[in-house]
This record gives sequence, structure tokens and C-alpha cells, in this order.
Amino acid sequence: MPRIGSIRPSVRLALLRWYRRCGRAGLPWRRKRSPYRTLVSEFMLQQTQVERVVPAFEAFVVRFPTLASLAAARRADVLRAWRGLGYNARAVRLHEVARIVVSEHGGRIPRDAEQLRALPGIGTYTAAAIRAFAFALDDLPIDVNIARVLHRLGRRARTALGRGGYAVVSALMDLGAHLCKRRNPDCVRCPIERYCEKKPLPARPRSAKGVRFRETARYARGRIVDRLRELPPGKRISLLDLHGDLPK
Ligand code: ADE
Repeated sequence: MPRIGSIRPSVRLALLRWYRRCGRAGLPWRRKRSPYRTLVSEFMLQQTQVERVVPAFEAFVVRFPTLASLAAARRADVLRAWRGLGYNARAVRLHEVARIVVSEHGGRIPRDAEQLRALPGIGTYTAAAIRAFAFALDDLPIDVNIARVLHRLGRRARTALGRGGYAVVSALMDLGAHLCKRRNPDCVRCPIERYCEKKPLPARPRSAKGVRFRETARYARGRIVDRLRELPPGKRISLLDLHGDLPK
């Protein structure tokens, strides 16, 4: 598991200073942290952009304010509250996690990395994010933004520092999202420019360009789930009708 402790103290300080001025400390899951809020936000952020997650997260934690309330909810209500985020399998897994935590962990989200990774939908990244954000442990969850920043920084910037650096993780995420972008990184405004080796990034694998979103399986899945969500409780719909109702 990568550690926050693998970032040099001077780099860490510069990051923290920058984060205080320019970071997104107001994001709802950062403004008020708890293991449950971290769990929900990390599931939402797995495949959805921050801007879309913010309103969905705020509505979700009003609808299900505690892990126990989520565990006790009906699956259909959880999916309804997930509306707008897509990739609904995440909602199903999150719901499962809540149920398992209630039944097997006495309602407390575990802080042990192995126990976290044994839960549905929680891999190395999400386990590290929960440990860093919810429990202020020294894990470094490496998402694409952090990976890019660390890659460019190079080896020199990565040696020894202490624990409890969730603000450092937040700062690295924000730096990657706002300044250290893949194309045209804004090195002039970067707080750690002087430590950076500016190592070139490896070429990106080719993506399936030219396919419109409305032609993707993801879009079709989303519309199917939208249609199912609209059905009154207990009501069924045949596959033929479902197909007929989908936008062409
Ligand atoms: N803050 C906490 N986790 C985050 C994530 N995965 N992406 C962006 N900001 C975050």
C-alpha cells in the first residue's frame, strides 16, 4: 500500500499551504467527515465527476443519513436516490456494504484494509481512500490525478513524512484536477513546481473515439434503469414493453 509518508516534508508543506488557499475544502464530504459520508462519497466518485456527485451526495445523505438507515432501506429506494449518477451497480454494492457492516461489523465501518477490501465494491483504491479520509490513516489512494502528479514529480520528491495526511491527499487530488492536468499543466501556478522533475507522461492508450454517448451500452442501461425506477412498487413491465418505451 503506498503511503502518504512517501512524500517529502517540504513538498507536503507546500501542498498544504496551497490547499488552504485554493483547495476544494468545501466539498460536502470534506467539510464534514465521517466514515459513512466517506464511504458514500467514495462509491459515488468511483466513476462520476465531482461536479455531478456534489448534489447527488447531498440529497443521498439527507435521504439516508446513517449507515443503519441505508442498510434498512429497500433496494428500489436506494436506486432511486442514485438517480443521475449512472453505473447503478455501485448503488447495489454500497447497499450491500451497509447491510454487511451492520450484520457483521456491529454497524461500524472497519478501518482494517483487508476487512475493507473484503466488502463488495471496495478495492485497493477505495479502501485506501476510506482509511485516509475517514480514519486519518497514512494511506495514499492513487487515482488518475494523483498518479499523474506523482509521476511528473519523479523520485526525488518522495521520501519520509508523518501520518494523518488526508489534507495532503485532498491537495494532491485538487492539484491534479486543476493545475497538473494531462494537457497544458499550469506549472507557473503550481506550489511544488520547484521540486518537480516534470517527467513526461507515458502515451495514453487509444480510446474508442467517435462513438456518441447515446449509442453506448452505458446510455441504454441508464434509460432502462430510469424506466424501471418510475414503476410503482410491485408493478412489473415486460421486456417487449420496456424496449418499446426506450428513446430511439
Ligand atoms: N475527496 C475525497 N475523495 C475524493 C475523490 N475520490 N475525488 C475527489 N475529491 C475527493
